Amino acid sequence: MNKIAIMGAMEEEIAPLLEYFSDINVVQYANNKYYEAKFGELNVVIAYSKIGKVFSTLTASTMIQKFGCDTLLFSGVAGGINPKLKIGDLIVANQLSQHDLDITAFGHPHGYVPGGNVYVNTDKKLKEIALDVAKENNITIIEGIIATGDQFVCDETRKAFIEKTFNADALEMEGASVAVVCDALQVPCLILRAISDTADMDAGFNFDAFLETSAKNSAEFLIKIIKKLQK
Ligand code: ADE
Repeated sequence: MNKIAIMGAMEEEIAPLLEYFSDINVVQYANNKYYEAKFGELNVVIAYSKIGKVFSTLTASTMIQKFGCDTLLFSGVAGGINPKLKIGDLIVANQLSQHDLDITAFGHPHGYVPGGNVYVNTDKKLKEIALDVAKENNITIIEGIIATGDQFVCDETRKAFIEKTFNADALEMEGASVAVVCDALQVPCLILRAISDTADMDAGFNFDAFLETSAKNSAEFLIKIIKKLQK
């Protein structure tokens, strides 16, 4: 492991991560800032992409292809679908899907385009490390399916569609696109999220109320994972 990409979508998602690093070198590239630092012996590059699949694809691809990162860890918040997930709880993705990718008009399933797959997998080893870290620290984490789309979901009907169609446990706006980039470029990735809302009619209000604390939960857990990777 040479260089770890640490990604969020929003400034609030990487702010609690940046606190752990000193001697940061800021590189401006492609309308974004990339923060280069060291965590012990590990080289890291930290960035927030901006919200959505397009920006997160650009950032993940840049971190791998320009900055040479060979592992990618994503930290942020998500809307909960699985009723076991309460605000603040953690989920690590084993599979992700694009819930708004729709060429069903041509007989294909939701989330599928020719040459792709409905689900993209994440790295098993990184996921197992996350589960081990949770166990060692007595932290509850759910392993499950995350659905991604360019849409803030705050509606029971859309939420029910995503749950039923993709068997999803949580939803957000970047994970699947990042995982697709990592899968194509053969870079192991981990998608970690803490719940900020439950994608219902209160989601907008709850997101604003819990973005900061949930982003911090996810970031603090991610730092524990990085400490373990260092060993
Ligand atoms: N990220 C956090 N909450 C979300 C929601 N309700 N919809 C989409 N992305 C989210």
